[in-house]
Amino acid sequence: MELVNEVQRFQFTRLARGAEAEDGADVVAGLTSAPKTLPCRYFYDAAGSDLFAQICETPEYYPTRTERSILTRHAGEIAALTGPCEIVELGSGTASKTRLLLDAYADGAKEVHFVPIDVSESVLRESSRDLVSRYAALSIRGYSGTYEQALAALHPAPAPARMFVFLGSTIGNFRNSERVAFVARIRDAMEDGDTFLLGIDRRKDGAIIEAAYNDSQGLTARFNLNMLSHLNRRFHGDLVVDNFTHRAVYEPRRHQIEMRLESRVAQTARLADLNLSVSFARGESIRTEISKKFDPEELAGEFTALGLGQVALWSDARQWFSLVLFRLGAR
Ligand code: AVJ
Repeated sequence: MELVNEVQRFQFTRLARGAEAEDGADVVAGLTSAPKTLPCRYFYDAAGSDLFAQICETPEYYPTRTERSILTRHAGEIAALTGPCEIVELGSGTASKTRLLLDAYADGAKEVHFVPIDVSESVLRESSRDLVSRYAALSIRGYSGTYEQALAALHPAPAPARMFVFLGSTIGNFRNSERVAFVARIRDAMEDGDTFLLGIDRRKDGAIIEAAYNDSQGLTARFNLNMLSHLNRRFHGDLVVDNFTHRAVYEPRRHQIEMRLESRVAQTARLADLNLSVSFARGESIRTEISKKFDPEELAGEFTALGLGQVALWSDARQWFSLVLFRLGAR
């Protein structure tokens, strides 16, 4: 762990150089399993992060703008419910939606404490510099690393409380068992009275969801295929991007959209740094992401079992997306 002091109001702890430092054991495990999978975090190299930002602007990809509209409407109410608190954001990224929260918390406050956690050190530094210049009352203690690393390394909770924030329905990328373990880890980092603000994409007509992951500009296709270029660069691979096709299919039984890369031909590829050769049959897919869609009541039940009680829920008029506020313990 390394502490870097940028300016007084922006303190930063480097826990790891994000995914760069990892050895690719997860890639080997995924590509040697049946069916083949790849971890969705390999979407987010510089090009992938840029493509994701563009996806958020497409007419089909409703989650980002819907969540933003809910935050715009209800940030004041959220701040009133939690009272003054330190805001800990998991996967803060460019923190563009976070600003809506900071606006509400900065309103009339002498001090606002923000703790962004992100795997990308550069994104963290850039957005933090920008934020401290925008909010006079803001001080930032950022962590670059995985959520797990950051939650374990978090500084002692300041008075009076903390709010953990996880937006964008990124919680949908976990499988059920992984999600429960992840929420339990957050719960373990919380103290009685702390809150957890969660963004969830909801169940709806599968055609609407499939359209969101098959945008007409082909940005999601490029985003999905970019993972192969990323792996080639990272692990000295020879995956031929043009030999794969983007697919996104909604599985209603599991309430999840699945992103896949389908092999157009029978082929073999090699990732030299991983000493791995992989063969694909024609038509065989690699699953690159699941994105679950939630029933808020079902999810609240799961959280209650973990000691997190629902305080409030906000949705858009169509009920396509929700923000849910949970609190640990009795208070
Ligand atoms: C940012 C992970 C929530 O699952 O909808 C967008 C990523 N994948 N289009 C999602 C994504 C395809 C997104 N998350």
